[in-house]
Amino acid sequence: MKKILVIHGPNLDLLGQREPGIYGKTTLKEINASLQKIAKKNKIGLTTKQSNHEGAIVDLIGKAKDKFAGILINPAAYTHTSVAIRDAIAACGVTTIEVHLSNIYSREEFRHKSLISPVARGTIMGFGAKSYDLGLEALIDLI
Ligand code: DQA
Repeated sequence: MKKILVIHGPNLDLLGQREPGIYGKTTLKEINASLQKIAKKNKIGLTTKQSNHEGAIVDLIGKAKDKFAGILINPAAYTHTSVAIRDAIAACGVTTIEVHLSNIYSREEFRHKSLISPVARGTIMGFGAKSYDLGLEALIDLI
């Protein structure tokens, strides 16, 4: 069975209560449940992780190489700052899709740059919790 690793970056553990006007009311637990349902339907194994720590995310990506066929990641605030996460994705060579709940281009200017997009196979954003479902479906098609 092929396996996919889902990584949720900083503050995404607060989804549901965190700025619901921007990120919606869906909790991380609900997002993960929806992803598990899609994975099960497609006979894919799914591991979900959340971390507020850049180094922990780098470690997860570094260990993904021989274990996972794909990575679905919302790097959250690290999208705009983390050369380390960008380099980890490039180094591990695992097909990676970047997702965001919000459309980062319709927000503050500091969010307009993603360091992750150039090393991701594709990016899905702006559809709220549905961005994750769409990203996972696209990733399953690719692997
Ligand atoms: C986010 C967008 C980022 O700019 C922000 O820092 C987040 C969430 C999104 O999913 O819309 O934490 O990645």
